[in-house]
Amino acid sequence: MYSSVKKAPNGADARPYEPEKNPAIRRLTAGAIKRRKGKTRFPVATAYDAPFGQFVEDAGIDVILVGDSVGNVVLGYDETTPVTIEQIVHHSQAVVRGTARAHIIADMPFGSYQVSNEDAIRSAIRFIKDGGACSVKLEGGVYEADRVRAIARSGIPVVGHIGVTPQTAGLGPGFKMRTHRDRLIDDARAIESAGAYAIVLEVVDHEISREITEMLSIPTIGIGSGPHCDSQVLVLHDILGMYSHSPSFAKRYAEVGRLATEALGAYARDVREGTFPPQ
Ligand code: KIV
Repeated sequence: MYSSVKKAPNGADARPYEPEKNPAIRRLTAGAIKRRKGKTRFPVATAYDAPFGQFVEDAGIDVILVGDSVGNVVLGYDETTPVTIEQIVHHSQAVVRGTARAHIIADMPFGSYQVSNEDAIRSAIRFIKDGGACSVKLEGGVYEADRVRAIARSGIPVVGHIGVTPQTAGLGPGFKMRTHRDRLIDDARAIESAGAYAIVLEVVDHEISREITEMLSIPTIGIGSGPHCDSQVLVLHDILGMYSHSPSFAKRYAEVGRLATEALGAYARDVREGTFPPQ
């Protein structure tokens, strides 16, 4: 038998998320996140499955992104572009099952919104209805503002994402810091006026991030964009130190990859030496 993810990691009783029995437990809404602007700096982390969704929520992080970074850090791809709608739906469902109150943002993968507004709305609906997510995120500035508007008008809360946009990084200056002030400000304004409730700034010059944060009425969620944003997001595997390499802007709060290898090595040794199971 497997351990249930509904048990708290410290072995405490099953989690109390039974919405049909306890309607008081509600997920954080997009509106509540938007109202944090200028009041509370808040952390965001990615998660891709039930146990880590639970760990993130139990750590007090109430906004979780099911990023298309799942392609790199979980599925073994070198980039995010191969990630499919089905995969984001599948991973969102798992994170939703592992959490109770957190706001879950589903990342719209490459190909799920570029073709038309109708396509974008249809994909966004899948992440909400099938994936169980609370809102969606998509990459792009001025050129994708129309998609953000269409999805927001269909009633689905949207997060924008400008600066480095990994889905199309191969077309431009790659993952280098973005420093074109006027272009970034146009992108940020376009996404805000299209109806996004928050915006990710990825690897944007720190002073430009500060300017955008002060200018917009929606929270900025920074990654590699300095300390002035309203919020910060990091990829779970970078926070936990799961791999030997992590981006220079990330901070490794643990060395989980090394610990996992050591624990597995100890188990393998015990089996080989006959010390597990005990006689
Ligand atoms: O996919 C992802 O994890 C992201 C964050 C890095 C913002 O988009």
